[in-house]
Amino acid sequence: MAVFFKRDILILSIIISVSLFSCGKDDKTEIIEKPDTTAVVTYPYQDSTLAVVDRVSDLMSRMTLKQKIGQMIQADSYPLLESELSSGYLGSVLSGGGSNPESNIASSWASMVNDFQKIAMKNRIPLVYGIDAIHGHNNVSNAVIFPHNIGLGCIQDMQTIEDAARVTAIEMSATGIPWTFAPCVAVARNIRWGRTYESYSENPDVVAKCGAAAVRGLQGSSLNNTTSVIACAKHFIGDGGTTEGDDQGNTELTEEELRAIHLPGYIAAIEEGVATIMVSYSSFNNEKMHANQYLITDVLKNELRFSGFVISDWDGVKDINSAGGLKQSITLAINAGIDMMMVPFDYINHLQYLEELVNDGSIKMDRINDAVSRILKVKFQKGLFERPYANAALSNEIGTNAHRDVARKCVQQSIVLLKNENKILPLSKSASKILVAGSIADDLGAQCGGWTIDWQGTNGDITTGTTILEGIKNGVNNASNVIYSSSGANASGSAVAIVVVGEKTPYAEGKGDKMANELVLSDDDITTINNVSATGVPIVLLIVSGRPLVIDEAILAKCSALCAVWLPGSEGAGVADVLFGDYNPTAKLCRMWPRNVSQVEKNSNTELDPLYPLGFGLNY
Ligand code: BGC
Ligand code: BGC
Repeated sequence: MAVFFKRDILILSIIISVSLFSCGKDDKTEIIEKPDTTAVVTYPYQDSTLAVVDRVSDLMSRMTLKQKIGQMIQADSYPLLESELSSGYLGSVLSGGGSNPESNIASSWASMVNDFQKIAMKNRIPLVYGIDAIHGHNNVSNAVIFPHNIGLGCIQDMQTIEDAARVTAIEMSATGIPWTFAPCVAVARNIRWGRTYESYSENPDVVAKCGAAAVRGLQGSSLNNTTSVIACAKHFIGDGGTTEGDDQGNTELTEEELRAIHLPGYIAAIEEGVATIMVSYSSFNNEKMHANQYLITDVLKNELRFSGFVISDWDGVKDINSAGGLKQSITLAINAGIDMMMVPFDYINHLQYLEELVNDGSIKMDRINDAVSRILKVKFQKGLFERPYANAALSNEIGTNAHRDVARKCVQQSIVLLKNENKILPLSKSASKILVAGSIADDLGAQCGGWTIDWQGTNGDITTGTTILEGIKNGVNNASNVIYSSSGANASGSAVAIVVVGEKTPYAEGKGDKMANELVLSDDDITTINNVSATGVPIVLLIVSGRPLVIDEAILAKCSALCAVWLPGSEGAGVADVLFGDYNPTAKLCRMWPRNVSQVEKNSNTELDPLYPLGFGLNY
């Protein structure tokens, strides 16, 4: 989706603060009409030495209904009018996938966020700005891109996952963004789902462990630290369990099964203190999760004691599609326990309807007070009232070498060695000729996958990084001995051919959903393998993909070695580290690798005879 950020035009409207509503008698204006004096303690809520709970209740006692419902709305940065941000008292703004400032550099991000924040601070309640930093601060040019979760789920050392999340938090803090919609603790049970790569595993325990490590890294030892960011476990609940792997589909399970498979990730995240949780677009037994009061309020908030706030997914409230229209959908969602609505564009109607619904008694004031207290609590915990703006001291923290090293380590630890006939790997760095082939060998965008710079991702040199080919060239003793041929021509005379194939076109939500028979190596990839194989040069096959792809056993027989590389992100050098033995593989499959198309929709079980089982992985 191409989005142009028209802030320069919109800035004109800052001063023209058109009130959306007439002033009702409940308007208490003291917190909005005073100048921005956040540093000066005038009211108890501004006193950072007081307990958060006391600050929340003091601020709540000073807020009007309009100010409260504004806190419950999140708009997208485009095409948000700054006048409406102010007059609607909006509590949050997000950058959706690809909703980037026109000049996509870190300093523009920081000034965009600061500009929104300045508007909000005139009303004295800071915004909490959110973004999908799901594998690094992935919308921002030159930020480090980590492997997607499917790769991280193969890592055995949880400290590595925590370190990766820490780096993401630091890079986010450098742009003044305090909230990421991560980690995704979906348990993808059907790889036809296009979001399978956002899931750490088909196994709930692996998901729980990895998600917990990510929350620790993102939120740090205290949310109040300068480089801590607010994490968001998503998408509650059952997103990865839909029938046929449909995105936003229907999860048909008993409650017992739902709890056993899809709840452990949330239990672990809550134990780590995750501050926010996002609701899933999907339905549970035909009931939209966005309207599911039992699961959101009774289970999540009451039984599991989740005390942060719950956000809807992007237009997820409207998507309830209730017969009574948007107004009824809002009633259902808020009464189900959603605290903040990710609108993202139609915020004026949402504000107005929410106010009407409170006034006509459809939504009780207690529910509003609960929602707003939860939101303000997280804002106070994060220190947003004291430090609402980007920390300029962090401005050089984007894409540093130290951060790239952490990502490279993730790549090393996520590559699963599946086959290694005659111990062909590790390769010698001093071979006189190494052929690199395959359409993905030299494509940074393909190896980063979706949710990179753009929502769906794009091929090519989309940001700073090292392709797999470049990593190989840098890894050998003499780069000129590495020959690249996409189709696998010119293999003759090579000591070995490294053939890099898989999912060539990046994808994200929706577009990534596939039929089972599409999850196979493409004809072009098979031709490349055959071209090389015909010359008798031994093949090391690397599959770059967001999920396992079925490989015909006759084709596999032509390859001496096979590695699952997943979507490694910007640090392709980590692949060479494994190939040349600078790193002895430790990764284990986070999901089983199907032997044939009929196994694609299945999960690990003792009767199935997959090509490689869950937990499989060789070393040298
Ligand atoms: C996705 C979420 C994401 C949100 C904001 C939704 O479409 O399902 O995972 O956090 O958009 O971009
Ligand atoms: C946004 C994404 C969002 C998606 C939902 C896109 O236009 O950029 O962030 O997840 O819509 O459908």
